[in-house]
Amino acid sequence: MKITIICENTVGRRIGLGEHGFSALIETDKGNYLFDTGSGHSVVRNSLELNKDLRTIKKIFLSHGHYDHTGGLPEVLKLKGKVDVHAHPHVFLDRIHVIKENEKETKKFVGLPYKKKYLELLGANFILHKDFTEVEKGVFLTGEVPRKTSFEKPDPVLLAEIDGKINQDIFSDDQSLILDTEKGLILVLGCAHSGMINIINYVIDKTGKENFYAVLGGTHLDFLTQEQLEESIKALKKMKIEKIGVCHCTGMRAAFRLHHEFGERFFYGHVGSGLEI
Ligand SMILES: [Fe+2]
Ligand SMILES: [Fe+2]
Repeated sequence: MKITIICENTVGRRIGLGEHGFSALIETDKGNYLFDTGSGHSVVRNSLELNKDLRTIKKIFLSHGHYDHTGGLPEVLKLKGKVDVHAHPHVFLDRIHVIKENEKETKKFVGLPYKKKYLELLGANFILHKDFTEVEKGVFLTGEVPRKTSFEKPDPVLLAEIDGKINQDIFSDDQSLILDTEKGLILVLGCAHSGMINIINYVIDKTGKENFYAVLGGTHLDFLTQEQLEESIKALKKMKIEKIGVCHCTGMRAAFRLHHEFGERFFYGHVGSGLEI
């Protein structure tokens, strides 16, 4: 099994293009899967540079409806054609980012930038579900993650419209991917809007397993309070995680901190990085 980061904010080698977004290709003997699609500028270009053929993917999984995880869907669909796309029904919500700079407030649309119908015309067969689901043997999607920790709070600058009302986005659609391997679980996070620790605890609960070979992807750790960072690191250090390969919305401050805490077990998940077992 091989996991390769296709889209990410940074490039670590002279391969690919960085963009604000996340996408990972999972190659297994059962088939290949694409988890998220980046924001659309780099998914095809980077896959070609990395010698990955997106036409081989069996399924697409979407972690949540933000543009930086879903914006590459048309590019992938134009290559692949008909394919199952697993997501939560709230993936289509209208979403807004409130940006405050120098006392000026601007609002940016950050939801899925395409209509469902258009994506279906390009070949997407949406399979929408809210619950923990085994999509293939040993491949799971968390579905909605219960919020249990006291320190993981939603990001106040991210909003969503539900039933005509715009409120703080609670990200019921935020889900992560789990691969059950002989080395332990591999957890791939999109943006971890449910809270990285909530997600890991839920995975332990649902699988009955607590050994993680790796936790990869976006953690959103840099955008919340110092308390959340400290408490998350404290909780992470108690968990059985062999490798931690964060990137995207983790931010540099939190990534450096995780590197300091996890040493050799840490790697930065730039474009082209990943792991093979
Ligand atoms: Fe993101
Ligand atoms: Fe996000």
